[in-house]
Amino acid sequence: MKNAAVIGAGVMGAGIAAQLADAGLSVTLLDLDTTTAEGGLARQINGNGFADPAAPARIRTGSSLSDLAALTSADWIIEAASERIDVKQRLFAAIDAVRKPGSIVSSNTSTILRARLIEGMPPSLSPDFLITHFFNPPRWMRLLELVSGPENDPAMVTRMADFAEQRLGKSVVRCRDTPGFLANRIGNFWMAAAVHEAVAHGLEVEEADAVLGKPFGAPTGVFALLDLVGIDLVPVAWHSLQAALPAEDMFQTYTAEPPLIVRMIAEGQRGRKAGAGFMRRLPDGSFETLDLIRHEYRPTRSDTPMALDHALGDLRAILTHPSPAGRYAAAVWSRTLAYAASLVPAVAASADPIDRAMRYGYGWALGPFELIERIGAEWLAENFPSAQ
Ligand SMILES: NC(=O)c1ccc[n+]([C@@H]2O[C@H](COP(=O)([O-])OP(=O)(O)OC[C@H]3O[C@@H](n4cnc5c(N)ncnc54)[C@H](O)[C@@H]3O)[C@@H](O)[C@H]2O)c1
Repeated sequence: MKNAAVIGAGVMGAGIAAQLADAGLSVTLLDLDTTTAEGGLARQINGNGFADPAAPARIRTGSSLSDLAALTSADWIIEAASERIDVKQRLFAAIDAVRKPGSIVSSNTSTILRARLIEGMPPSLSPDFLITHFFNPPRWMRLLELVSGPENDPAMVTRMADFAEQRLGKSVVRCRDTPGFLANRIGNFWMAAAVHEAVAHGLEVEEADAVLGKPFGAPTGVFALLDLVGIDLVPVAWHSLQAALPAEDMFQTYTAEPPLIVRMIAEGQRGRKAGAGFMRRLPDGSFETLDLIRHEYRPTRSDTPMALDHALGDLRAILTHPSPAGRYAAAVWSRTLAYAASLVPAVAASADPIDRAMRYGYGWALGPFELIERIGAEWLAENFPSAQ
């Protein structure tokens, strides 16, 4: 594979183009207009998106309205345009009209099933069409979720997975064509549980993050993660997942619009990109944290109710600690682990892809099944029977 094209030069498309150029490929990066594509490339250059200083010169920018002919030499064409099925389907038809036979076309969609994307697709395209779901930021996140279908030649899918592993340094997890695939299905459940249970248990942001993240091997707690992702994306992502999941799915027990989140969005507290979310930094460099009950910022606290300073210590002691933080950790983790377990075998054939998706997509030190093993499956079932 020597030539690639990426369509959509936003957060993801420009980052994916940078990664491909870093791997030595010549890349065409198109957005609706060339200026937007150039802007995406400039953000990668200024934002540490490249490892190789010579790589930006391997990217040519252009417009998907006037420069589609540039795709004729591409071996791999990645669609990373806006998350709208009509936009994507129109692009697929236009791509198929110009691409060379045998080139691979993939979508970076987070929420639309492959089965829906190929509805109305030219029959010449679906055998060459995959979902390749990169994580943000593409340069740093190892996970690549790969979704294929019955029309694909298994040898082609294996070649694609090998290329992503060997040339892009990805950890590829092959996923079935199910809502949210694997990492975001479990990750969003974990985040929804964390937000709802923090309010239900009357916890402060600092306590909640201190008990939920590092001790269980997650890089941060959920509130810090939501500040990074963007608070405004929460209802969008949760609504979209809930719309695609069956009524009996455990995810449906959480509202996609927690009042806390709705109020934060209304008040412009959209996370780091807005300068304020669950935490905010003051001009003097100190931090303030949002009080979840009074909805006011106050100085950030560092006291926590139990010793939580090392990762993956005595998890049973945390889960049974007689404090709101202990009960909070128990509620969130027992439900999240039960949720992950409920996905086998319908969503994933075994524990392994789920564990790998959470390790490489969310940076957890242990995947959910590895955590279950560490804590003890029988112990969990005895102590938290209602989570099953
Ligand atoms: N943001 C994330 O964290 C993330 C992570 C994984 C996957 N995704 C998926 O990646 C895709 C892109 O997301 P994003 O966050 O980069 O969005 P974005 O809004 O930052 O960028 C989308 C870009 O596509 C362009 N575009 C729209 N229609 C186009 C067309 N017809 N031709 C060319 N360009 C067009 C827009 O102008 C915009 O620049 C979506 O499918 C999204 O679900 C996003």
